[in-house]
This record gives sequence, structure tokens and C-alpha cells, in this order.
Amino acid sequence: MDNELDKILILDFGSQYTQLIARRIREINVYCEIHSYDISIDKIIKFSPKGIVLSGSPSSVLNENAPIMDKKIFDLNLPILGICYGLQLITKNFNGEVEDTVKKEYGKSKLSLKRENELFDNVFEEQNFINVWMSHGDKVLQIPPDFEVIAETPNSPIAAIKHKSRQIYALQFHPEVMHTEDNNNILNNFVINICKTNQNWTAKNFINEELNKIRKSVGKKQIICGLSGGVDSSVVALLLHKAIGNNLTCIFVNTGLLRLNEAKEVRKIFKENYEINLIYVDAEKRFLKALQRVVEPEEKRKIIGKLFIEIFEEEGRKIGDIDFLAQGTLYPDVIESVSFKGPSVTIKSHHNVGGLPKKMSLKLIEPLRELFKDEVREVGKELSLIDKILYRHPFPGPGLAIRIIGEVTKAKCDMLQKADNIAMTELKNNDQYDKIWQAFCVLLPVKTVGVMGDERSYENVIALRAVTSTDGMTADWSKIPYDILGIISNRIINEVKGINRVVYDISSKPPATIEWE
Ligand code: XMP
Repeated sequence: MDNELDKILILDFGSQYTQLIARRIREINVYCEIHSYDISIDKIIKFSPKGIVLSGSPSSVLNENAPIMDKKIFDLNLPILGICYGLQLITKNFNGEVEDTVKKEYGKSKLSLKRENELFDNVFEEQNFINVWMSHGDKVLQIPPDFEVIAETPNSPIAAIKHKSRQIYALQFHPEVMHTEDNNNILNNFVINICKTNQNWTAKNFINEELNKIRKSVGKKQIICGLSGGVDSSVVALLLHKAIGNNLTCIFVNTGLLRLNEAKEVRKIFKENYEINLIYVDAEKRFLKALQRVVEPEEKRKIIGKLFIEIFEEEGRKIGDIDFLAQGTLYPDVIESVSFKGPSVTIKSHHNVGGLPKKMSLKLIEPLRELFKDEVREVGKELSLIDKILYRHPFPGPGLAIRIIGEVTKAKCDMLQKADNIAMTELKNNDQYDKIWQAFCVLLPVKTVGVMGDERSYENVIALRAVTSTDGMTADWSKIPYDILGIISNRIINEVKGINRVVYDISSKPPATIEWE
């Protein structure tokens, strides 16, 4: 990133909320990056942050092998904000005392101010207390000698502390969580007033910066870009096109696993709106053949990822002299693979990156790898991406293959496409589509009995899935009005041959995931 861009460093000790801290800071238009707690001091100095945030953690500072950062960060003379575990780290480091409480504190608590200070400016303006979100086991028993308590809750008399002469602050609660009702003022105060950052992280600046970077690293070489018509790959395509013009060739692969009419529509949209080289590859038969008799979701993903690359490489050879393959990898995917916990458990090898084979002749270029989804949309807007694509629900690379539970066949794809198209049409017609993060149909591998006319039927089940979310990391099922669910169910059962039952998925993520496979 540009040296002029003011940056905040977030050290990750493994909290489930670390990404949220980054999101809240980016919302203030200040650039920040999450790095593992054990990043070297040299790298921190090179990164040159204006302030450092220490995240929470599932660990306890009282454990022998508790994660701990290089203590030299305290010698850098930078503002530091510790959150939860960060508070305990600061307490220990400056010779205070932390105790392991038997009673864990989880949920809302009432925070009141004990001492006026710059971190809480505008926070307690009209009220004596605000609700804050607590989630901790350990507690500070004795604050370090040079610190003072600046806020308390009924259960935590030491809910926020501050160094008496330095800009070191620490909170027992989580300001990054929505349930902390401070209007993001605490992080605002820290990032803008205390760290003295300029709010220069904007879509426009990102684009300018990225255009320079792309031109520098790619030069006159050729790039191919897999275009799916989703927001991420479309933004990548527009950005690259702006940077290198006709040295970019986009490849749209019709896997046969797309939504009904998707292939036709995306080609039309791009042809009518943008002057980007676009190659269309009809690979439906190849994908279906490769997926024959495959039922295991991860295997499906790997087969599809490999085939995508094969096709990109083939098309690249036809164009000749291609060096780069562009991808729409986003920041959550990047963090997942560098975070404190490390990629120890693979729940799904998704988000573009996971399914790619290790050996590839093309170099990857990922211009969106620093962005969250909402930031991608901002960049898309700035690049005049049309609303139809900008606000389209996310669609996974493996497409319907992971929405047909069990073996994938052409007949099942057809059935699912028809059902899914009805659901999408009705959600749009009934003003639901834009309220939902992602909705789709899943074809289940069970048959159930029904009665159609006077006949017994024994047919397939469609599950409708619709969720609200901000980034797909967590999600809740959408509360679609019953009558609209009714319309969707009626239409699918009446119009799609082979379906005699529709169910609605009411699971949240976690513990379920958004896709069924
Ligand atoms: P899950 O199912 O893990 O999904 O809750 C979170 C988000 O990721 C999308 N997803 C994928 N995207 N390739 C992709 O490009 C995949 O293999 C894949 N699996 C899930 C999912 O649609 C949701 O938006």
C-alpha cells in the first residue's frame, strides 16, 4: 500500500471478532490490516502503522503458552488499544494482576464513565451508561501502577483503563460488536483523534493505487480473468481493463452448473455495457462428465477447480503468451489462511482459492485481496458497474454442483435451475431479493410421497435457503413473509416436474453453513 495511506495494525490473537475490528476501522475510511500476533517487530516497523489494536482471544494470559506479541511494540511510542485479551496482555506487561474468574461474563453489560478521557468523547453525551458487549473469562484484579480506570460495569469495576501519561488504552468489552451501543465512537476516537489518521481509505484512492500497482507488476504482459458475472470477478475485470485495456481477456466458462439463462445474460450485459475482450467457453459436457458418480462435496470442488484451470490454461495457450490469471479473492479468504488459528480445519475449501490445483502455469493476480465484500461493491460503483451485477447475490464457483446433494446429473441441473428461477423471480417480484444476502434452492437426494390430483406421487424435495448477513462469515435465516414462501412453494410444486415438496431452511450460520455442501 501507498506510504501516504494512514494505517492501523491489528494483531490477531485468535478472537472470533478480529475481522469485525478491521471492518469497523475500514468503515471509518482508515486502512487497516490484520496480522498474526507473532509478526516480527521489523515487519511492524516496515508496515509503519499509526496505531496498534490488540485483539481478543479464546486463550488466557494466565496459561503458560498464551500467545504473546513482541513486547517491543510498547517502545514504538504508538497509540495502542487492547481489547479484552488485549487488556489482559497490557495489564500483565505493565505489572498489573489478572485473575481467572470462575464466573465467565458473556452478553450485554452497562458501562458507565469513571473519568473523562479522549477515548470516550461523545460516547456518554446524553446518557449515564451505554450497553456494551462482554465476552471474557479472565478479569483484571489490579491495574498496573501507571494506569487509571476510566470506565466500569456492575460486574467489572475495571472495564476500561488508560495509561496516565502515554496513549495506551484497554477495554474489557468489545467495541467492534454491534451490541456495544457507542455508534462506533470508541474506535472512531482511537483511530482518528488518538492515532491522528487521515480518513483516506476510499474506493477512489483504492482504484488509483491499484491501477498503478497492476500496471507496474504486469507491464505489457497479458492477463486472463475468469469472469462469472458475479460482483467480485466483474469488479476485477473492470479494474484490470482500466489498467491494461486490451491486454486483458476475460473468459466466461459455462459449466452447465449456472443459474437458468445466466450464461446468456452475463454475455449480453458485458457486450452491451463494456468493451472488454470476452471469450465464451461452453464446457457443460466436460464438467458433467468429470462429476459423474462424485458425491463428496470437497471432491466436487477439487474437480471443478482443476477443470477451471485446465480451461483457462487451454484458452491462454490459444491467445498465446499469457502470464497471469486474475481472481476475485477477497480479504476474508486471505485472513482465514493467515490467522492465528491457521488453516488447521478445512470446513470447505471454498472462496475461489481453495479449489485451485497447487501446480499451475499461470501466476495469480488478486487485486481485491485487501477488500471486504461491501468495499468491493463501493469500488464497483466507482467503476460504473451496473446495479444488476453490483447487487447480485453471491454465487459459488462450483455453482449448482454443491446445491445438488449427491451425484450431479443434467436432469437434476435442469430441475434445480427451474425451481431456483421461480424462487428468484418471486423474491424479486415481492421486494425481498435486496433484503437478502443470498438465496437459492437446493435439490435433496430424498424422495417423498405426495398426492397430485388423485394420484400418489413419489418425487423430489427442494429446500429453499435464504440468509441475511454482512459478509457471509455469519448469517441468519431470512424472515421471508409466509405468504411469499407459500407462493414460491406452490409455483415450484406446480411448475417443476419431479418436485412434490418444498421445505424452508431455518438454520443460522454457525452452526450450519450457508451452502448445504
Ligand atoms: P458457507 O457455505 O461456507 O459459504 O457458509 C459462505 C459463502 O461462500 C460461498 N461459497 C463458495 N464460494 N466457491 C466459492 O466461490 C465455493 O466452493 C464456495 N462454497 C461456499 C457461499 O455461497 C457463501 O456466499
